[in-house]
Amino acid sequence: MIRSRNLVVLVLSLAFVIAPLGTSDMLAHSGALNKDVAARMTLMSNMGRNMGVLGKMLQKKAPFDQGKVVEAINNIEQLAVETPKVFEKRVLDPKSEAKELIWEEFKSFTKISTGLAASAKQLSNATKSFDDLRPALIALSQSCKECHSRFRE
Ligand code: HEC
Repeated sequence: MIRSRNLVVLVLSLAFVIAPLGTSDMLAHSGALNKDVAARMTLMSNMGRNMGVLGKMLQKKAPFDQGKVVEAINNIEQLAVETPKVFEKRVLDPKSEAKELIWEEFKSFTKISTGLAASAKQLSNATKSFDDLRPALIALSQSCKECHSRFRE
């Protein structure tokens, strides 16, 4: 990937990763009627929160801290492992952004989750310095986007 494209991708991914943080807290979800829907939204909010930890360091709004980097990436790995489980039940809700396509193509939905878990696992050991943050964020956010563009309204 050429550098300028990297930058565009990064700016886009940071915008979508950090922007939802303000609205996607537990309060917003207490209005969700269904507990399965609330559970999967909470899991996704946690994805966003952990990406936000990395994003803030990259933007130098927080100091680079390898312990926190590893923790955030490990959390993302664990959340990715849990993603197919929290989406297993086909539950539709007016507040949900999940497309029905998830349950029509659950195998490929699962495959994207598995891919995210695998790249998080690999990046957890490989992200050792500030310079490693950008490629790590780009790699992780590609899975987020791949799934959102296909399976989320
Ligand atoms: C395998 C699919 C998949 C992957 C991978 C995925 N997401 Fe999601 N995400 C979804 C779906 C589907 C929704 C909509 C859930 C709903 O509204 O019921 C969602 C919703 C969200 C939301 C909104 C939650 C809310 O408050 O309602 C955030 C934030 C989010 N994802 C962040 C991320 C981040 C960051 C990543 C990557 C680190 C990621 N997601 C990876 C499928 C995925």
